[in-house]
Amino acid sequence: MLDAASMDTIINKIILHIKESQEQIYDISEYTQNEYNCIKDELEEVKKSVAQLIGHVNKLREREKTARLHLMDVSKNFYRYKEDDIKRAYDRAQKIQVELAKMQSREQLLRDKRDNLERSLRRLQAMLDKAENMISHLGVVFDYLNQHLSAISSSIGELQQLQQLGVSIIKAQEEERKRVAREIHDGPAQLMANIVMRAEYILKLMDVNPENVRKELVSLQELVRQSLQDVRKIIFDLRPMVLDDLGLVPAINRYMEDYEKQYDIHVEVVFFGKQIRLPPATEVALFRVVQEALNNVHKHARAKHVLIKMEQLANKITILIKDNGRGFEPEAVGKNSNRECYGLINMRERVQILNGEFKITSTPGKGTLINLSVPIK
Ligand SMILES: Nc1ncnc2c1ncn2[C@@H]1O[C@H](COP(=O)(O)OP(=O)(O)OP(=O)(O)O)[C@@H](O)[C@H]1O
Ligand SMILES: [Mg+2]
Repeated sequence: MLDAASMDTIINKIILHIKESQEQIYDISEYTQNEYNCIKDELEEVKKSVAQLIGHVNKLREREKTARLHLMDVSKNFYRYKEDDIKRAYDRAQKIQVELAKMQSREQLLRDKRDNLERSLRRLQAMLDKAENMISHLGVVFDYLNQHLSAISSSIGELQQLQQLGVSIIKAQEEERKRVAREIHDGPAQLMANIVMRAEYILKLMDVNPENVRKELVSLQELVRQSLQDVRKIIFDLRPMVLDDLGLVPAINRYMEDYEKQYDIHVEVVFFGKQIRLPPATEVALFRVVQEALNNVHKHARAKHVLIKMEQLANKITILIKDNGRGFEPEAVGKNSNRECYGLINMRERVQILNGEFKITSTPGKGTLINLSVPIK
C-alpha cells in the first residue's frame, strides 16, 4: 500500500534524480561550450589564413600574368632573345603556374575546412540551446515536485489518519462486543445454567421431600433476581434506556449510583441551568464521554473523589470532570506503551464530531481535569 512515508521516499528519489540529471546536463552544456569556443577560435584562424592565402594567390596571378606576357613576347620576338633567356622565361612561367595551382588547391582546402567548422559551430550552438531549454524545463519540474507532491504526500498522510481512525473504531467495536459476550457468559449465562439445574433438583425433591421445596424455590427466586439484575446492567451499559427516556442528567445520575457502589469512589454530580432535552446523538455522545472518563478514573487514577459539573446554557453545554487521583502526562500517552489506547481518542473524536472543544489537563500527582463544551441550538 502506498503510504505517506513511502510516497515521501519516492518523491525524494525523483527529486534527487532530477538534480543529478540537471547536473549532468550542466556538464554536457559546459563541455559543449568549451568545444564551441575552441572551434570558434580555430575558425577565426582558418578565416585569417584563407584571407592571407587569397592575397597570396592574387599576387601569384599577377605574377603569372606578367610571366605569361613575357613568355608571349619572348616567343613572338624569338630572334631578339638568347636561348638562355627563352629557357628561363619558360621555366619561370611554369614555376609560377605550378606554385599558383598549389596555392589554389590549398585555398580550396582551407575554404572547405572553414565551411565544415562553421557547420560544426552551428550544430554546437543548437545543442547548447537545447541543453539550456532542458535545464529550465527540469527547473520547472523540480519546483513542481517540490511544492505539489509534498502537498500530495501530506494529504495522503491525512487520509491515512482517517483510515487509521476507521480501523480503530472497528477495533473498538469488536472490543466492545467481546466485552459484552464475556459479561453475558460469565454472568447471566452461568446463572441460568444454575437455574436449570436447580429446577431439575426441585422437581425431584417434590417427590422425595416436598417440605423442602418451598425453601429451594426461595433460593431459586434469588438466583433469577440476580440474573435479571445482571442482564439489566449489561443492557444499561450497552445503551441506558433512561438516556432515551429521561435525558442526559438522569442517565448520568443513575450511572453514578452503580459506579459508586461498585468502585468505592465518591462521585459528586452538580448541574446548572435548564434541563432541556438535546438531540439524541448529542446526549449519547456526552454520556459516553462521561462514562469513558469515569472508566479511566477507576482504571488508572486511584482517586477517592470525582466531581462532575455540568452547565447547560442556551447555546452550549459544558461538562467538567475532575478527579483527585494520581494524574498523568497527556502528551506521553501512547508513546511508551505498545498497548493501544482508544479512550481519550474516542472522547476527543466524539466531541469534535459535535463541533465542540475538548481539553484534558493533568499533572502527575495532582489529579486530572477534563473540560469539554459542545454547542447546542
Ligand atoms: N483520570 C486519569 N488518571 C490517571 N491516568 C489517566 C487518567 N485518564 C487516562 N489516564 C492515562 O492515560 C492513558 C490513556 O487513556 P485511554 O483512556 O486513552 O486508554 P486506556 O484507558 O489505557 O485504554 P482504553 O480506554 O482504550 O481501554 C491511560 O493508560 C492512563 O495511563
Ligand atoms: Mg480508557
